Amino acid sequence: MHLACWLWILVAICAADEFREKAQNIMRNTPVIDGHNDLPWQLLKQFNNRLQDPRADLNRLENTHTNIPKLRAGFVGGQFWSAYTPCDTQNKDAVKRTLEQIDVIHRMCGLYPETFACVTSSAGLKEAFQKGKVASLVGVEGGHSLDSSLGVLRSLYHLGMRYMTLTHSCNTPWADNWLVDDGSDKAQSNGLSPFGQSVVREMNRLGVIVDLAHVSLATMQAALQLSKAPVIFSHSSAFSVCPHRRNVPDNVLQLVKQKGGLVMVNFYNDYVSCQKEANLSQVADHLDHIKKVAGPNAVGFGGDFDGVSRLPSGLEDVSKYPDLIAELLRRGWTETEVQGALALNLLRVFQDVERVSDHTQPPEEEPISLDKLEASCRTNYGYSAAPHTNHLSGVLLASLGLLLLSLYVL
Ligand SMILES: *[C@@H]1O[C@H](CO)[C@@H](O)[C@H](O)[C@H]1NC(C)=O
Ligand SMILES: [Zn+2]
Repeated sequence: MHLACWLWILVAICAADEFREKAQNIMRNTPVIDGHNDLPWQLLKQFNNRLQDPRADLNRLENTHTNIPKLRAGFVGGQFWSAYTPCDTQNKDAVKRTLEQIDVIHRMCGLYPETFACVTSSAGLKEAFQKGKVASLVGVEGGHSLDSSLGVLRSLYHLGMRYMTLTHSCNTPWADNWLVDDGSDKAQSNGLSPFGQSVVREMNRLGVIVDLAHVSLATMQAALQLSKAPVIFSHSSAFSVCPHRRNVPDNVLQLVKQKGGLVMVNFYNDYVSCQKEANLSQVADHLDHIKKVAGPNAVGFGGDFDGVSRLPSGLEDVSKYPDLIAELLRRGWTETEVQGALALNLLRVFQDVERVSDHTQPPEEEPISLDKLEASCRTNYGYSAAPHTNHLSGVLLASLGLLLLSLYVL
């Protein structure tokens, strides 16, 4: 080979290292806040949530995308851990399993206090950054976890839930999921039902971020229109780059921009390339596209690590984040744009959600109507006695009838 060729290769390698080094320098001050990680689900599947099982040691855990050394190498400074229970728990033990997944997140913080700090606010996030801890937050993945109850929603908030994905890959009695858009599920609420709207209003009032990953187009549009605070997609990519229904189309990206919201890009091969294989550069294509359509303030990362079976080459686990940042820098992203995508965009959205929240306002109280609830395992305490609106209007009609009758008699 010619000397010139060798020199060219050397320059290319040095340039790559230069971007990698710059990425690490940025991430030392502004680590990544990732929108979605399913490690808690792995802890359930592999160890039935027994964290003290020696095999579950998070310093050593090997067959997962996430462990403590990998989080450190990846400069992960904030993580929304997914409190996920599959759709087949809907109308069964969804609430119990959600509580258990929140509990395992809390126990993780308790067992590794030198690494994790469980926090519930934007201020807590920043404080954890400064202490060099991985700020740990709870995201509940799927409205089926509520069992259609505003009381459960409020209780999950008290347990630290700071985002809720309105659906997983199934309809709830009040919101439709993405499978409606490819015809594999029937539309049920055509977006959000009136009860679904009260769920979003209550999330605004409490200060829970509305997450639109997994929901149908109509649900996205309804929530974007209704929510008083910016919304996120905690782990979704760009439909224009890979036309999968789990991804976000351009018209919705524009609405997200108007709303000051955020799309945190998912790394699952099937959503990145629409194929079984994908690579880091194709993930960067999604980030470029979202930046182009929705602006640099609407870009983030939600890798879906430990929730997916296939990841792009170059992004095999959470330690690879600096390589992705290096690629963005190589593509001409400015330091400010990179810092936004890493953490500042999420912090801004979270602060806006906190600003909109108002615990002095009265809570939403109107229960879902009984006929919307499926399965016979439920009791119906409260429903027969409560003077809900239908009952009230019946009383009004009866009084009106009596009044007319008495006028007639007179
Ligand atoms: C990533 O994959 C695409 C599509 O297969 C390919 O064109 C590209 O060269 C790959 N990039 C790298 C850096 O491997
Ligand atoms: Zn998901």
